[in-house]
Parts: sequence; C-alpha cells; structure tokens
Amino acid sequence: MENLQTTYNNDETKDFGRKLAKTLHPSIALCLSGDLGAGKTTLSQGILEGLGALPPYTSPTFVIMKEYVLREATETGIKRIYHVDAYRIESKDIEHLGFEEWCSDPSGLVILEWPERIAELLPQKRIDITLTQKGEMEREIVVTKK
Ligand SMILES: Nc1ncnc2c1ncn2[C@@H]1O[C@H](COP(=O)(O)OP(=O)(O)OP(=O)(O)O)[C@@H](O)[C@H]1O
Ligand SMILES: [Mg+2]
Repeated sequence: MENLQTTYNNDETKDFGRKLAKTLHPSIALCLSGDLGAGKTTLSQGILEGLGALPPYTSPTFVIMKEYVLREATETGIKRIYHVDAYRIESKDIEHLGFEEWCSDPSGLVILEWPERIAELLPQKRIDITLTQKGEMEREIVVTKK
C-alpha cells in the first residue's frame, strides 16, 4: 500500500501523524527517512500524540532512544513506543542498546529517524515513510507499507 500526502505547515504534518497513529499495530518499525529538517521529528510528535503518549515529545537526537509507556494500551495493543534517532550512532552501538528487542516487543512500536544509518538492522515488518522538502513550508510524505 502506498499513500501520499502534501503538507504546508507543522500542524498539518502533525495532524497526518495523529491520523496515521490510529492505523498502527505493535511489533512494527516505522522508518522515517528524509534530510535534516524534512520533518521526521515533527511527524513523530503527531504520531506520539495520536497514540496517547504523554508529552513532552522531545527529539531523541541526543539521547538516541526515548521510551514512552502509555497509560492505556491502544486499541491495537501498543503499550510502549521507542522513538529512536540513528543519526549519531552506528549499527553495532544501537544493537547493544537493544534495537532488535525494541522491534520485537509484542506490545511495542519503534519510530525510527535516519533508518538508512542502520540499514542492515532494519526488520522485515516495517512501514517506510519518506519526507521530502518541496518548499520552505511544503513537505511531501510518502507512506509505504510492506
Ligand atoms: N510542512 C511542514 N511539516 C513539518 N515541518 C515543517 C513544515 N514546514 C516547515 N517545517 C519546519 O521544518 C522543520 C522540521 O524539523 P524536524 O525536527 O521535524 O525535522 P527532522 O527531519 O526531524 O530533522 P533532523 O534530521 O535534524 O532530526 C521545523 O523547523 C519545522 O518548523
Ligand atoms: Mg529529527
């Protein structure tokens, strides 16, 4: 399945994330590709909100992984969210942190920024999302479900 959306400001990107959140199931890695500033974290914030995670939704760029435990599981059974940013890390290091365990958590959802940095570790079960900056405020978002 492929789905394309164009947004013209932050809120529209977050709103797309909120709606996408309702379609998500556990044990899947949501891989967000796109250049610096494309909107990966902004989209993640909308997804986190849509899943009912408690704010603040700070970027995991410096902590590598930020875990959210939901007060109430989603209808599809997601209880934990692992928001990961692989920009500053190598495959072997993120492996040691437990990347494969996060991906196989039966009640977990991984949201991964910079998946291309750890290409060899990406699981089969994933949704690929590519964000492209088309203008100052314009972003194209393509969702591909495998
Ligand atoms: N339509 C839009 N959707 C999302 N962000 C937008 C949009 N228009 C402008 N922006 C701006 O683009 C930037 C997106 O930043 P964000 O941190 O989400 O990007 P990122 O892809 O996570 O970058 P990084 O690779 O540095 O982590 C923000 O400054 C935001 O205000
Ligand atoms: Mg980011």
